[in-house]
Amino acid sequence: MHKDFWQQQLKKHKKLCFLAPMDGYGDSPYRQTMKRVAPHIYCISEFYSADGLVHSKFLGDSVLPHQDIEKPLIIQIFWKHPENFAKAAKIIERYNVAGIDINMGCPAKKVVRSGHGSSLLINEDLAFEIVDTLNKATKLPISVKTRRSFDGNQNLVKFAKWLENAGAKLITIHGRTAKQAYTGSADFTDIYELKKHLSIPVICNGDIMNYDQGMQRVQDLDGFMIGRGSFWNPWCFLSETHESTHDGMIDTANFHNGIYHPPLRDILDTMLFHARELVNVKWERKWSLEIRKHLVQYLKNFPGVKEYRRELVTVESIDDSIRVIEAIRAKYKTHLDKKPGLGELDKL
Ligand SMILES: Cc1cc2nc3c(=O)[nH]c(=O)nc-3n(C[C@H](O)[C@H](O)[C@H](O)COP(=O)(O)O)c2cc1C
Repeated sequence: MHKDFWQQQLKKHKKLCFLAPMDGYGDSPYRQTMKRVAPHIYCISEFYSADGLVHSKFLGDSVLPHQDIEKPLIIQIFWKHPENFAKAAKIIERYNVAGIDINMGCPAKKVVRSGHGSSLLINEDLAFEIVDTLNKATKLPISVKTRRSFDGNQNLVKFAKWLENAGAKLITIHGRTAKQAYTGSADFTDIYELKKHLSIPVICNGDIMNYDQGMQRVQDLDGFMIGRGSFWNPWCFLSETHESTHDGMIDTANFHNGIYHPPLRDILDTMLFHARELVNVKWERKWSLEIRKHLVQYLKNFPGVKEYRRELVTVESIDDSIRVIEAIRAKYKTHLDKKPGLGELDKL
């Protein structure tokens, strides 16, 4: 990959659409599940500690391998020692990824207290040194994800220009301050202003629930990023302008007011795919604890499956989950084209 990767992508797509990095979600199976439905998106991994990657071979071996479908993949790292960012880059490079993103937005108290994540917004010198050191250590393009300010008293234009000078090739701004964490709502005013001052792509993030909403809010920016809107909903990235998923054509009849409502068949297929990919990378005990939360949520719009929901929250093996999913498929075999999100299965 080259340093001008993002500029090249902007020649292919007028606006870039991203899956946000999300700790506890953005692992390889989750990313594959998203890309299978929405091949046009760019995935950023959940964050991994740069020091952790340097000191534990096990961490890199377990989180960096990924599938072709996830490409071009960006790996996000965090922490505060520039020399370890440089060493981590050498490890990440072996996995043929498209770029490295630096977390400068995490508002968690323990992260801020230890001097990384969003606290870099008020430690500009260290932020510069991290980007500069990492940029010089790798051929991969470096991007930064941060917030519009730490507590409302910082100058976003100054900070972002500083990072651009250090070598950042793309910047994403979550339109909340770190102090707000996830309260209030995302405000993009400063992000639109920022675009006028930078030559690297600027991406907005915060409270965008689907592709059409992203296209409305992006204005002159270069792209948008969706996080929580993607929970159990890879279809949030689709719009009527897209022609196909990874596996086939998109049925435009499934759009309602610009939002894609998957039929039950697609939801069950996606649940199976997610469960199978997750069991490939996690031991069954850990798998069962993680997949339970996902499987029930995929069916959140289908109240009729109460008895199966109880079974899904107790699955212990991949075979258990396949059995329950296939039981739902068999019971509703004449309704697989119906869309739970539009209430079409409510009376069953
Ligand atoms: C469960 C969860 C985990 C997150 N983990 C990360 C992370 O690892 N790195 C990061 O930069 N942001 C992380 N974020 C922030 C999101 O990337 C995103 O900025 C935020 O959720 C706002 O976007 P949204 O309204 O589309 O969800 C996380 C958010 C959530 C909800």
